[in-house]
Amino acid sequence: MFGRRTAPVDASAPPAAAPAKKPVAAPKPAAKKPAAPKKSAPKPAPAEKAPAPAPPRVASPANDGQKAQPVEIGGRSDEYFQTKTTIFNALIDTIDLSQLAQLDTESAAEEIRDIVNEIISIKNVQMSIAEQEALLQDICNDVLGYGPLEPLLARDDIADIMVNGSSRVFIEVGGKIQLTNVRFRDNAQLMNICQRIVSQVGRRVDEASPICDARLPDGSRVNVIAPPLSIDGAALTIRKFKKDKLTMADLQNFGSISPEGAKVLEIVGACRINTLISGGTGSGKTTLLNCMTGFIEHDERVITCEDAAELQLQQPHVVRLETRPPNLEGQGEVTMRDLVKNCLRMRPERIIVGEVRGPEAFDLLQAMNTGHDGSMGTLHANSPREALQRVESMITMGGYNLPSRTIREMIVGSIDVIIQAARLRDGSRRITHVTEVLGTEGDTIITQDLFIYDMDGEDENGGIVGRHKSTGIARPAFWDRARYYGRDSELATALDAAAD
Ligand SMILES: Nc1ncnc2c1ncn2[C@@H]1O[C@H](COP(=O)(O)OP(=O)(O)OP(=O)(O)O)[C@@H](O)[C@H]1O
Ligand SMILES: [Mg+2]
Repeated sequence: MFGRRTAPVDASAPPAAAPAKKPVAAPKPAAKKPAAPKKSAPKPAPAEKAPAPAPPRVASPANDGQKAQPVEIGGRSDEYFQTKTTIFNALIDTIDLSQLAQLDTESAAEEIRDIVNEIISIKNVQMSIAEQEALLQDICNDVLGYGPLEPLLARDDIADIMVNGSSRVFIEVGGKIQLTNVRFRDNAQLMNICQRIVSQVGRRVDEASPICDARLPDGSRVNVIAPPLSIDGAALTIRKFKKDKLTMADLQNFGSISPEGAKVLEIVGACRINTLISGGTGSGKTTLLNCMTGFIEHDERVITCEDAAELQLQQPHVVRLETRPPNLEGQGEVTMRDLVKNCLRMRPERIIVGEVRGPEAFDLLQAMNTGHDGSMGTLHANSPREALQRVESMITMGGYNLPSRTIREMIVGSIDVIIQAARLRDGSRRITHVTEVLGTEGDTIITQDLFIYDMDGEDENGGIVGRHKSTGIARPAFWDRARYYGRDSELATALDAAAD
């Protein structure tokens, strides 16, 4: 259903038996009816070729953003989209995309500009210079880049881009999800762009293999799930890569952690304390892990294992490893477990696992209590206690056949500190707990909070008011270790200052 426009739109793909079109040359708009900006049903159109503002097929009551006004990106009106479709169709009828694909991006953009300008004048479309420039840019983006996503990709304040089919594009800015007015011409165009993104990393997404992870050239993490699995057109999710990663100082400025809390985290990082960072989706786990790695000494050998490399360690002695999904024949997969196991043969001093989500939990714990102190990882959980339960169930599900008591003892022997990150309902991201894992009592794991975020309520703008405070523990379990590294007095001062 979505392959029809693939050949014409995707400049990088060989065109499907393109009729003898002129190379990139003069347009032949005469073949088309001169049209006013409003185009009446162009060709015997496939269902998805209806003009973009088509309503979504399923309108659930909770349907995203029905109440809120879409955020204007680039100020495009419905009329603009119709004009663009008219001109775009004329362009596709005119140029030979196989020839265009042979040009470099700049020359191809130049060709497109010439032809579009000519179409505009022949069709007598009324536009201001600024509108014409915007249209040219949009069309170049459609043919050569990521189409309507380009303006969103260019913005550094956007954390996530979420496309739910061709006509609903959401962004996350400042912790809040907003509907935008960005839309694709149809589901076929969206699918083409998804295909273009994943083909850059040698993958494919179509009805036969509808789930795909990829990365944009700038490092942004991409997930695509295509029809028929995703019912209303492809769902594309992009976690934008931030060139300038947030630092612990930034987190303090945002109020995500207090200065005393940040000091404790610094000591945890520097004193080689095994740490798990727990949190929900998009709560800031990876960002926090990246900040924590900033406290690692420069002479330590660090190995990082990630599904998609996001961490940016500044130390000189770092080996970065990345997992690999299976190829189209289902072969060649390298899992996180493979990487973590291999790490152990690479003489690491610390192992950093981007996200622990399966049986590699066992290998990470083993690494943590066999001399790789200061190893770290993140995992999805809503509280420190839940994080411990998740580690246990990951190990159980890994088929190790160990009694749960043994697993718990292993957890207690390996993990020292859990840092909990959360995205609160006002959109702010906060570190809500710094919790120590102390030991077991019977079958229960005993933990103790060192720091918590205490919520007081809301201010007049709906922002959450609260503060980070120490729970009054003067001597955490890692005290001796802090003393060994000569950081005990700093630790005492930070904990004292944060107590009530
Ligand atoms: N404390 C913070 N304050 C403001 N923005 C933050 C904070 N921490 C992270 N962010 C931003 O939130 C977004 C998500 O962060 P991050 O990738 O660290 O989350 P995550 O929990 O690892 O997400 P996922 O579960 O998808 O892996 C990023 O754009 C990041 O820059
Ligand atoms: Mg992450």
